[in-house]
Amino acid sequence: MSSDSTQPSEAVIGVHWKEEDYFTPPASFVKQAYWNDPSVFERFSERNFPQCFDEYADLLTWSKRWDKTLDSSNPPFFKWFVGGQLNASYNCVDRHLKEHRNKVAYYFVPEEPDEPTVTLSYQQLYRRVNEVAAMLRDFCGLKRGDRVTLHLPMTLDLPITMLACARLGVIHSQVFSGFSGKAAGDRVTDSQSRILITADGYHRGGHLIDHKEKADIAVAEAAKQGQKVDKVIVWRRHAGQYASQHPMVKGRDFFADEVLKDYAGQEVEPVMVDSTDTLFLMYTSGTTGKPKGAQHSVGGYLAYVAGTTKYIQDLHPTDVYWCMADIGWITGHSYIVYGPLALCATSVLYEGTPTYPDASRPWRIAEEYGVNIFHTSPTAVRALRRVDDKLPLKFKHHFKHMTTVGEPIEPESWRWYHDVIGKGEAVIVDTWWQTENGGFMCSTVPGLHKMKPGSAGPGLPGIFPAILDDHNEELKPGSGVAGNLCIRNPWPGRMLTVWGNDKRFVDTYYAPICRDLKSKDWRDWPYLAGDGAMIAADGYLRVLGRIDDVINVAGHRLGTKEIESACMTVPEVAEAAVVSVPDKIKGVLPEVYCSLRPGVAADEAMAKRISNAVVEDIGAIARPRRVWMVPDMPKTRSGKIMRRVLAAISAGKDPGDVTTLANGEVVEHIRQQVQGK
Ligand code: PRX
Repeated sequence: MSSDSTQPSEAVIGVHWKEEDYFTPPASFVKQAYWNDPSVFERFSERNFPQCFDEYADLLTWSKRWDKTLDSSNPPFFKWFVGGQLNASYNCVDRHLKEHRNKVAYYFVPEEPDEPTVTLSYQQLYRRVNEVAAMLRDFCGLKRGDRVTLHLPMTLDLPITMLACARLGVIHSQVFSGFSGKAAGDRVTDSQSRILITADGYHRGGHLIDHKEKADIAVAEAAKQGQKVDKVIVWRRHAGQYASQHPMVKGRDFFADEVLKDYAGQEVEPVMVDSTDTLFLMYTSGTTGKPKGAQHSVGGYLAYVAGTTKYIQDLHPTDVYWCMADIGWITGHSYIVYGPLALCATSVLYEGTPTYPDASRPWRIAEEYGVNIFHTSPTAVRALRRVDDKLPLKFKHHFKHMTTVGEPIEPESWRWYHDVIGKGEAVIVDTWWQTENGGFMCSTVPGLHKMKPGSAGPGLPGIFPAILDDHNEELKPGSGVAGNLCIRNPWPGRMLTVWGNDKRFVDTYYAPICRDLKSKDWRDWPYLAGDGAMIAADGYLRVLGRIDDVINVAGHRLGTKEIESACMTVPEVAEAAVVSVPDKIKGVLPEVYCSLRPGVAADEAMAKRISNAVVEDIGAIARPRRVWMVPDMPKTRSGKIMRRVLAAISAGKDPGDVTTLANGEVVEHIRQQVQGK
């Protein structure tokens, strides 16, 4: 599995951890939960697969009902709700108007506490989505099947633009706003976008960030790679004022608020598309350098996120829900935009960092809007705990339900989340899933299962996970041995393929564990997640982390190869290796080792240049904790860099036996450099 064969595979590591005690969901929660009758497990049992998922699809409005729930005739290109037609924007907006036009869709809370909240009703959302759809169709010339790259921060313009695309059957590809212009340019090229939609700036950490510059870099980068961008649409953070130092390019760049004046009040008929059409692309890091465009469907994806939002988030019409993720990640697509809106929910959309202007911000927001469902990551939990571990208790918020996602949460942080943020009143779901999956895969059903700190639950109803050893043999639950996590069956939210690269889709997620590449039976085609995990005797999943060359920083996947190639853009760098080191807040952080060309001084300025190159190429999220400039890399006799040795040194551990290396002596030198004598 690992492309560096010196890395020990999780599959052979026996893991011993203390079994945690169960926590019982509060009776008040169970009473009101959508799923509190165990008959659901029978309905979604393997016997009733795949028809069980009709229950999710029935949450949507279809212009034409599907003929076949699952077409598995061409594995692993599984198709859901085949023959059905629908429109995602219609499902998220139009269909709610008759009875709920005045209901709040979003409270947009700007980061600056003095800036007023924008309350957007479903009626207002309808109007704005229609106007933007008219602009995209008539001004940008976009039509069904075209791709458009969005590089938008956390403001209302982002979900509105996504829904406007969906209304036309246009495929949106949103790039996380913290990613660099270069990263956006790579994605523009890969998706062949002619239109880039960006913003002039946004507020984050107390600063008004200049964002437009990244669009100029993205367009130049795409041009270099052969993809021409015809138009750049720029949303202004404050309409009428320009927040960027970087001038608009005449004939190419247009302010959205100005163009929209011509489309005021226009309505656009939603384009009904096939269930198997593509709704969006979401790029994610994998084992090779280039990010993969996970291609998600309209019908299967929307049904899956609607179902899991309803039953696992337990989102009811009267709830006020707040997911602190960024819409630029899959969590935001599924559980800020498509899932909640499909259910006509009311959500908080917060622009900035949770600790601005201070760590009480989330609790003040929760109090003010009456948030009762809260969704965040272990990184945010750790960061809030570090600032003041009693603070949330001083506020009057009451959560009935809380979610954690993105990385393993250690039991200590889980208990603090439960006792202090949740005041012991909330149920917690630890949801394991991935960009490729579309929605939650493993979690407790909140009204039916007990919780176990540090463990995501069993497979969701209808999802059947298994752990395989290195020979693809199934390790029984409770075996106490970790292995490769896989999902035995297809599910509706699953990506269709890797954009433009079916082979990579098969090779990455299926071929390594496929029982028979010629088989037309889905049972021979389990999905390989790329995580090391164990399943306990109770069926609960404990995730250890990625087994490929991917670092999960604050719940977001970064390819080590991407970071290494960014380092290599500094001409003085001869070789680069990236390892992950444990971090109290972010789980892990990348640390860089470089060897320099002969005669180059290994000084602070050089370290800074290398670090800046990473930030420029990928974004601040990938900023290395340290850059170590070393005389040589530890290598095997066949010339492979021993990342395992470097990782041990970074973690303050003993690098182990290095006598078989080509240059074992350099290891002690590096150890002293990093760890001291
Ligand atoms: O390693 C797992 C970890 O995050 C990876 C997926 O990252 P991404 O595609 O960016 O999606 C993040 C949000 C869905 C997984 O392969 N991961 C995600 N959720 C959990 C987790 N690890 C442990 N526990 C979780 N609940």
